[in-house]
Amino acid sequence: MLSETSASPKRARPRLTVDGLHKRFLLHGQGGLEIDVMRDLSLTLDAGECLVLAGRSGIGKSTLLKMLHGDYRIDRGHIRLHFEDGELDLETLPAYAWHGLRRDVIGYVSQFLRVVPRVAAVDVVMEPLLARGADENEARQRAETLLARLNLPERLWQLPPGTFSGGEQQRVNIARGFIGEHPLLLLDEPTASLDATNRDVVITLIGEAKARGAAMLGIFHDEDVRERVADRLLPLDDSLGARASVTQNTQETLS
Ligand SMILES: Nc1ncnc2c1ncn2[C@@H]1O[C@H](COP(=O)(O)OP(=O)(O)OP(=O)(O)O)[C@@H](O)[C@H]1O
Ligand SMILES: [Mg+2]
Repeated sequence: MLSETSASPKRARPRLTVDGLHKRFLLHGQGGLEIDVMRDLSLTLDAGECLVLAGRSGIGKSTLLKMLHGDYRIDRGHIRLHFEDGELDLETLPAYAWHGLRRDVIGYVSQFLRVVPRVAAVDVVMEPLLARGADENEARQRAETLLARLNLPERLWQLPPGTFSGGEQQRVNIARGFIGEHPLLLLDEPTASLDATNRDVVITLIGEAKARGAAMLGIFHDEDVRERVADRLLPLDDSLGARASVTQNTQETLS
């Protein structure tokens, strides 16, 4: 199974299934208070579709993406990637296998860019390609093309993004997330700090990713963006356990 992770062809298009997922946070600072953020959550996501998570602030949308990305542990339940030649259960994936999975299969656009001092914006963007052993010139060119499409002024490309505005940092983050053309993309409010022009660019990038068969799980607060990118909507509510209602909701197709 593990060899399949590292050997997964880069263009593999897995189907994602989440079954009976639970997540509980234990707040040590508050006398061991436990909060259940997720109860029995289930969903499926096929290649080439974008499923949008909706629900009030604090309901657990980002937590779900972080569990899919291996940042948060799975307490109970299963997250599985089904490839043509086998499946991976992320719950039992050993730590060493996560690097290859994130490099080749699961891309993640977090809401905020993790700024590394002294690393220029263009290098931040091309890094996922270099990690796969891509040619440096080609990687740089692709990074510059994406930064240009996202209207990041050329004078910023060689600067570390630490001093960039929120929207500029977000565009660097988006370019870094999309450059790898991962088959599964997790998008946490990628358009939150963007103006209308750049929101349109991101919507186009999402459309292109869909067209090449990428599966996307996204969070978009902007109704307009949501309606333009979502194939299906998964509303999370406080029950979060109503497997039946979640399943029913996922059948809703936006026109
Ligand atoms: N590492 C953590 N430790 C303790 N509690 C956490 C942790 N991460 C998230 N939470 C809590 O879990 C709940 C869900 O948080 P999450 O960030 O997933 O919400 P969200 O739906 O993404 O909200 P928003 O729309 O505001 O981004 C919140 O109550 C949050 O405080
Ligand atoms: Mg969030």
